[in-house]
Amino acid sequence: MRQRIEIRRPDDWHVHLRDGDMLGDVVNYTARQFARAIIMPNLTPPVTTVDAARAYRSRILKAVEEGLVFTPLMVAYLTDDMDPEEIRRGAEEGVFTAAKLYPANATTNSAAGVTDIKKIYSVLRVMAEIGLPLLVHGEVNHSDVDIFDREARFIEDVLALVIKDFPELKIVFEHITTEEAVEFVNSNGANIAATITPHHLEINRNAIFQGGINPHNYCLPIAKREKHRLALRKAATSGSSKFFLGTDTAPHPVAAKESACGCAGIFNAPYALESYAKTFEEEDALDKLEGFASEHGPRFYGLPLNEEIIILERKASKVPEKLTFSGTDIIPFHAGSTLNWSLQS
Ligand code: DOR
Ligand code: ZN
Repeated sequence: MRQRIEIRRPDDWHVHLRDGDMLGDVVNYTARQFARAIIMPNLTPPVTTVDAARAYRSRILKAVEEGLVFTPLMVAYLTDDMDPEEIRRGAEEGVFTAAKLYPANATTNSAAGVTDIKKIYSVLRVMAEIGLPLLVHGEVNHSDVDIFDREARFIEDVLALVIKDFPELKIVFEHITTEEAVEFVNSNGANIAATITPHHLEINRNAIFQGGINPHNYCLPIAKREKHRLALRKAATSGSSKFFLGTDTAPHPVAAKESACGCAGIFNAPYALESYAKTFEEEDALDKLEGFASEHGPRFYGLPLNEEIIILERKASKVPEKLTFSGTDIIPFHAGSTLNWSLQS
């Protein structure tokens, strides 16, 4: 039985670090595990300008504890009236690594998102021209579409159109949850990739309702049927360079989760690598972990691979029931359970 996993230091290609006090409380969980991270821009107000992204990047760097080397990669939040030249300038000045499409009102802080994909065609044209990746929250959110069908419908209604009109555009289909998404990514060119979260590899939709409503397993896109979880596990561990690590770690105070209108999001940053290692071991694919965690992402983004090596050892990690930050409790993913791997510090 394998006792040690040595891999290049991974990156996290999808992270919510929040802002203010919460930023200081959560950023180091990510910075301890990952060298770089794609930082989601769904703050209030959202990060829609080069200046806002630069200022947010400084706040993140200030909050990183001494001794950790961590590079936040900033993302522009696309709105209906985004100026394509703002995106071009942000990319040229080395501030924007990507731009994010949130369909309006699809998820947390997405009210200012895009109401119709055609409204951002001038932006997509510039992005395709300069090679800036489009990150998509892939869900339609019309009230007549079942919540479990939202991702599959997004492929048909939006993505099909985007890839037809912008065949060169680099697209990351974020936090995929369905076999339809796996199939879509596999059947398109090298410019189409996807991130997969640790929680969508671990839970199916039963976890949200086991013994009552479990708000800590509620995230968006919502977890789907078992067959979809199995398709995600197969894709992540396949060795295909189209799939890479993106945790979608998304902390919310316990009171905001355990409420009459609980927020979507799972805080998985503290044991993200241990959680992925669990899945890869269960799938007998530990030899594929490095590609997924440390190589496919940078290659897609055209960034160098990290040189540093990290070690996961076979040693129990006991995940706390809760974490308390400046008076606020947050329940982490895997709360109260024990994982078989530990990241050496
Ligand atoms: O579960 C989620 N939480 N999904 C998202 O798309 C947003 C995120 C958040 O910001 O809380
Ligand atoms: Zn997210």
